[in-house]
Amino acid sequence: MQKKFEFEYESYIDSSVLGASDLALLEAARKATATAFAPYSHFKVGAAAQLNTGLIVTGSNQESASYPVGICAERTLLNSIGSQFPMDSVLSLAVSYEPMGKPSMEPLSPCGMCRQALLDYENRYQAPIRVILAGLEGEVIIFKTASDLLPFGFNGSVLKGLK
Ligand code: THU
Repeated sequence: MQKKFEFEYESYIDSSVLGASDLALLEAARKATATAFAPYSHFKVGAAAQLNTGLIVTGSNQESASYPVGICAERTLLNSIGSQFPMDSVLSLAVSYEPMGKPSMEPLSPCGMCRQALLDYENRYQAPIRVILAGLEGEVIIFKTASDLLPFGFNGSVLKGLK
């Protein structure tokens, strides 16, 4: 039997057409690119999350001289929220990037590890996270749940009951 998987997402020509709260979140992510520590890749990523309390928290990629030790902006942010605001869920999370000296016109596509971390966070709070992706300019795409970014993702349910 053949099965089909599909989902819908929103696409906007640029951020000027976003609602006020999405625009504020994306602008916070764009601004957070300035806090990245990316001396090796020169690829500065910023992320911003709106919590259910309304608070906006930001994060950025933090690289290491031992390259694999570095961490993406999305996971910097989620780990920070999980430890500082463990009672609060994430409503929306925006990601942007600044490739040093070059324009960023296209949405950034989060890496697989960050997609898993976003899925973990949704499962942890049983609440969908809207994901807003854009460069410093240009097209903005919005997913209604992070799980759309990781079809057939591992949600840990098979671990329950194991010793
Ligand atoms: N990076 C992120 O912060 N988020 C992503 O979704 C993709 C990649 C970072 C990791 C590394 O510091 C740099 O971008 C280049 O890969």
